[in-house]
Amino acid sequence: MIILGIETSCDDTGIAVVEASKRGDFNILSNIVSSQIKIHEKYGGIVPNLAAREHVKNIEPCLKESLKQANKTIKDIDAIAVTTGPGLIPSLLIGVHFAKALAYKYKKPIIPINHIEAHILAINKKIKLPAIALIVSGGHTQLILIDKKYKIIGETRDDAAGECFDKIAKLLNLGYPGGPEISKQAEKCKTTKLELPRPMIHQKNYDFSFSGLKTAVLHKVKENKYKTEEIAKESQQAIIDVLIKKTIKAKEQYKAKTVILAGGVAANKELRKQFQEKTNVLIPDFKLCTDNGAMIAIAAFSKKPKNLHKIKADANLRIK
Ligand code: KG4
Ligand code: ZN
Repeated sequence: MIILGIETSCDDTGIAVVEASKRGDFNILSNIVSSQIKIHEKYGGIVPNLAAREHVKNIEPCLKESLKQANKTIKDIDAIAVTTGPGLIPSLLIGVHFAKALAYKYKKPIIPINHIEAHILAINKKIKLPAIALIVSGGHTQLILIDKKYKIIGETRDDAAGECFDKIAKLLNLGYPGGPEISKQAEKCKTTKLELPRPMIHQKNYDFSFSGLKTAVLHKVKENKYKTEEIAKESQQAIIDVLIKKTIKAKEQYKAKTVILAGGVAANKELRKQFQEKTNVLIPDFKLCTDNGAMIAIAAFSKKPKNLHKIKADANLRIK
């Protein structure tokens, strides 16, 4: 079965062609991602209407390139998978309308995909249940219990982990997206005496809060006592400590057989390393952590198509 995956929930236009036989046995024939970093960089974050405009520009060339690299034509595609949410509505609408137009014109089944579920399934492995998944991206930070259904057991009360990386990078005059920049700076720092808070680390619940950390960094920047690399290292460590502590606690409480780390922030080398030191954890390949079309196609496997007219973009779609 050959699935076309379309992702436009945020600022990346992603289109992929994936061949699948059974879960965990996927062959990614192409995975084109057109990044809008250059456009949003000067604003230090994503501007939704600009993102939508860029998706409109990029989506057709991405489709062409994706089919070309996969050595397929649209006729070879068995189903079209598209992100319907959660995400920025102007961005989501472009992908959803494009997918519906393709499905209508070429008479292909269409499968709506939840972006968060796609991040999880990007691990491309069989999941032993119950499982705990930590999703850390620019828009979300959620701890999800996976059993017969998905259940969100905790989430951020303010900023997402990726958003925190992005905002701290901005305070430090580093580029956008902030995660990779902070990570590079942190690598340069051997030790630091700087201590930043680990928000909510000792609370009994599985919720997170990252906006206080950002404010603490702002004060440290103003003090002018610490090097950029020191602030980068300690903020990265503060985020890592909270994420790992809460995930391990959830793993123990729910007796999880699998722990999954996914989403754009899962591309962070130090987070991956420290997670692996603490527990057995499944993490997608680097390229499948940040937004892409292949994870959307992979998530569509074994899901049923839906009536074209019932497919709608939903900015606040919850995982079920
Ligand atoms: O999943 P994703 O591509 O988009 C959303 O669904 O939001 O995640 C993007 C986020 C950004 O906030 C970016 O700074 C973060 O992932 N990110 C990283 C790294 N690479 C991307 N954060 C920390 N370390 C990284 N290496
Ligand atoms: Zn994402």
